[in-house]
Amino acid sequence: MNGIYRKSLARGLLAAAALVGFAAAAGAAPVSDPQLAKVVAQGKTLFTQSKFDGNGRVCQSCHLGGGLEPGRRPDGKPIPSLANAAAVFPRYKARAGRVFTLADQVRACIGGALEGKDPGEGSEEVTALVVYLTSLSQGKAIDMGGQPQ
Ligand code: HEC
Repeated sequence: MNGIYRKSLARGLLAAAALVGFAAAAGAAPVSDPQLAKVVAQGKTLFTQSKFDGNGRVCQSCHLGGGLEPGRRPDGKPIPSLANAAAVFPRYKARAGRVFTLADQVRACIGGALEGKDPGEGSEEVTALVVYLTSLSQGKAIDMGGQPQ
């Protein structure tokens, strides 16, 4: 491989990495169905604003950047991003001793991390949050039980 080729390859890779970074920052691939896109937007609003009558935290207090960036617990410990959460659920939760769906995890964070009122399985709020989180994983391969990004 000659030097010029190597340099242009490196430049191409950098440009590709910048593009991937941009797509992630913009909130993953767009959802084409307008009704679904509306619920994605509702879920994002809940994620960034709703306290669920709890301790004052919102999802984004810990899951930064709308869930796309690495998160942080209140004690400063890092948590993985939610960028592929919908692709790695359902997963076995050792602490609960059972398999969690994404909706179960959302409700666990509402009841635990937010100390909020659980809107319940199948509620509009939990559905909207699941739809929003799923939109973040749009285009990613399902990897049941895989590692969060
Ligand atoms: C006080 C901090 C905090 C808040 C606020 C919080 N979470 Fe979490 N969340 C965590 C922690 C810590 C984990 C990792 C827990 C684990 O490994 O079991 C987590 C894990 C998750 C996961 C699974 C990620 C994965 O891939 O394993 C999802 C999905 C999630 N949270 C959604 C939410 C939603 C939706 C809200 C708002 C209703 C929320 N969280 C609010 C701390 C928080």
